[in-house]
Amino acid sequence: MDSIKELKKFWDGKKVFITGHTGFKGSWMCIFLNMLNAKIYGYSLKPKKTSLFYQANCKKFIKKNFYADINNLKKLEKRINDVKPNVLFHLAAQPLVSDSFSNPLKTINTNSIGTLNVLSSIRKSNSLKSVVIVTTDKVYKIKKRSKYYNEKDELGGKDPYSASKVCAEIITLSYIESFFKKTRLKNKISTARSGNVIGGGDYSKNRLVPDIIKNINNKKKLTLRNPNHIRPWQHVVEPMLGYLKLAQSQYQKKIVHITPIWNFGPNKSNFVKVIDIVKNINKRKKIKLKISRSQNFLETSDLKLDSKKAKKFLKWSSKWNLNKTLNNVVEWNDLFKKNKNAKKICEDQINNYLK
Ligand SMILES: NC(=O)c1ccc[n+]([C@@H]2O[C@H](COP(=O)([O-])OP(=O)(O)OC[C@H]3O[C@@H](n4cnc5c(N)ncnc54)[C@H](O)[C@@H]3O)[C@@H](O)[C@H]2O)c1
Repeated sequence: MDSIKELKKFWDGKKVFITGHTGFKGSWMCIFLNMLNAKIYGYSLKPKKTSLFYQANCKKFIKKNFYADINNLKKLEKRINDVKPNVLFHLAAQPLVSDSFSNPLKTINTNSIGTLNVLSSIRKSNSLKSVVIVTTDKVYKIKKRSKYYNEKDELGGKDPYSASKVCAEIITLSYIESFFKKTRLKNKISTARSGNVIGGGDYSKNRLVPDIIKNINNKKKLTLRNPNHIRPWQHVVEPMLGYLKLAQSQYQKKIVHITPIWNFGPNKSNFVKVIDIVKNINKRKKIKLKISRSQNFLETSDLKLDSKKAKKFLKWSSKWNLNKTLNNVVEWNDLFKKNKNAKKICEDQINNYLK
């Protein structure tokens, strides 16, 4: 059972190094790990004022915040070697498909070379016993519409963001084969692919649910780019628990001889069209809508993840259906507008999820 009490037995006192800790997923991860009494160290760019990291005052409970570029190899290596972490989660990235079209070089530098830098930096580590490299569901080569993608499927992202994450995957596998097979990190490094993650405190542009929340709060019209595109929608706590379980299993040598790639997608009922998300939220909150057929960048139209492997070997599976997921997103926004503490809202939702 995944209760706070059970999870704490492992995570209490562990030194955890997180890259990208000031981001949306990174902040949820910090709050989750803080509930488990882990010692958190983060390496990222400085957070914006409009960020969950800032709103939840994560800085206060994190042992050390290092604000630096993932492409500053010297600094990254020094920080990791100074901290001597037991577990590392690599989440730092330029995560937006739209921005990858306006700045492909920066995207590939941050996402591909950044991952290479993390892997290079941990080669000398004597303390690490588990590493999770976060990529995305967008790494798969898209085939027929009905297909569910599993970890053995071919890679082949078309847009610059997906390509940068495919590179990160290939670099990781190459490093595992070339440099870690005879070290203490053998069988202790994996890549993790999740779906479209949603939750309170995401302020990214060109993401559907943050755009809907902005629309609700500011009463401006919402422009939909691709109403019929299907996506795997999941609440952010779902893959967070998956990453934690994967890291713990690697650390405890429970998943030796298993390929180091993991999907953490939602249930089948959560693979729905963009327009269905809008209709679902519209039942609770009125949304002013405009559909724009003009598209200035290419996006994959249909993505479904098969997460049977995580279910079988990690006993992880998606728990919240679409209604519950969206309820939590809308509720987060409502409570925050009523001045409820952002960290407390996240903690309550994590506790509810684990019940
Ligand atoms: N949000 C999603 O739906 C989703 C889905 C699948 C995968 N992912 C992946 O999850 C990870 C986190 O995504 P997110 O949604 O939290 O993104 P985010 O933009 O909210 O956070 C990104 C984090 O990376 C850091 N970062 C960016 N460039 C950096 C650089 N050059 N040097 C150091 N740090 C840098 C930022 O400071 C921030 O802490 C990313 O790897 C992303 O590709 C996200």
